[in-house]
Amino acid sequence: MAKYLVTGGAGFIGSNLVDTLVQEDNQIVVVDDLSMGLVENLPQSDKVRFLEHSITDHAFMRALLQEEHFDYIVLLAAIASVADSVERPYETHQVNQEANLNIIETIRQEQLPLKKLFFASSAAVYGDDPALPKQEEMAVKPLTQYAVDKYATERAIINYSRLYDLPFVAVRFFNVFGPKQNPSSPYSGVLSILLNALTHDLPFTFFGDGGQTRDFTFINDVVSAIVGLLHTPEAKGEVFNIANGQQTSLQAVATTMQQITGKTLAVSYQATRAGDIRDSYANVDKINALGFMTHTPLAEGLRAYVASVQ
Ligand SMILES: NC(=O)c1ccc[n+]([C@@H]2O[C@H](COP(=O)([O-])OP(=O)(O)OC[C@H]3O[C@@H](n4cnc5c(N)ncnc54)[C@H](O)[C@@H]3O)[C@@H](O)[C@H]2O)c1
Repeated sequence: MAKYLVTGGAGFIGSNLVDTLVQEDNQIVVVDDLSMGLVENLPQSDKVRFLEHSITDHAFMRALLQEEHFDYIVLLAAIASVADSVERPYETHQVNQEANLNIIETIRQEQLPLKKLFFASSAAVYGDDPALPKQEEMAVKPLTQYAVDKYATERAIINYSRLYDLPFVAVRFFNVFGPKQNPSSPYSGVLSILLNALTHDLPFTFFGDGGQTRDFTFINDVVSAIVGLLHTPEAKGEVFNIANGQQTSLQAVATTMQQITGKTLAVSYQATRAGDIRDSYANVDKINALGFMTHTPLAEGLRAYVASVQ
């Protein structure tokens, strides 16, 4: 049994991670301001302590870290949408960069003992450079405040790890999908909006022609990658792509979803959104070399996702 802090733990990825950590009999403290997450996402368990609070409260986070002696820290709290960050650049910066810097600086200054700290960066840091697949060592081109802050924080995590020999690791998630993804915001992951449209017979809007491609990654694979990285001591001071390693167009995924649900989408088309990237998929050799990353076939993941909401 170990003690975990999960920021953003009431959100999509965080709550799926907390489910797994509870099953493995750990103690988990979740800090989430519920700006996007839902407390109902969290399992009912005496192993989970939920603190409704913003990570931007530096004094609160500093005191929490000093008092609780966490073994593992998973930094997921974020304004997690590219489009949202375009609307709210300064708030994005405070949450996605400054709050995380306060956490790692507290760990350094207080010399807090820690087995591993994990930070969720994003494929968005690669920007619209046409080179594919995206590989960790290639040049980045962050096009939005979201991507700028993710990149800055990921570099701070890596630099702290290397400068001060701290067990910190960062990843770049590609488009994650699965149960508990909140479809209620226009800023949500596209597959949750697509499934919500199919389930409730709502219209669906493609921004652009639908030919844009993504690397759709099932949540179970993401959770196993997080847990694997937390428990691999040599994985530190590095950034890893976390993805399925497959390139799929939005049109193709919409077709598969219609086949699985047996429903037909009513679609419309609007202009591409500011900051949206045309094509993206990952080279996953680096994470695969560690030996624990699973890659659920897309259709299998989509079937599991559809089944979870029916
Ligand atoms: N889902 C993806 O495809 C994807 C891709 C790349 C990166 N990421 C990153 O992974 C992490 C988790 O993403 P997600 O899809 O679960 O998003 P999410 O929005 O479901 O989860 C983020 C959580 O952070 C919380 N939060 C936001 N601001 C906060 C604050 N100031 N203080 C405390 N909590 C706050 C939200 O309420 C939410 O519960 C994020 O850092 C996101 O940027 C996700």
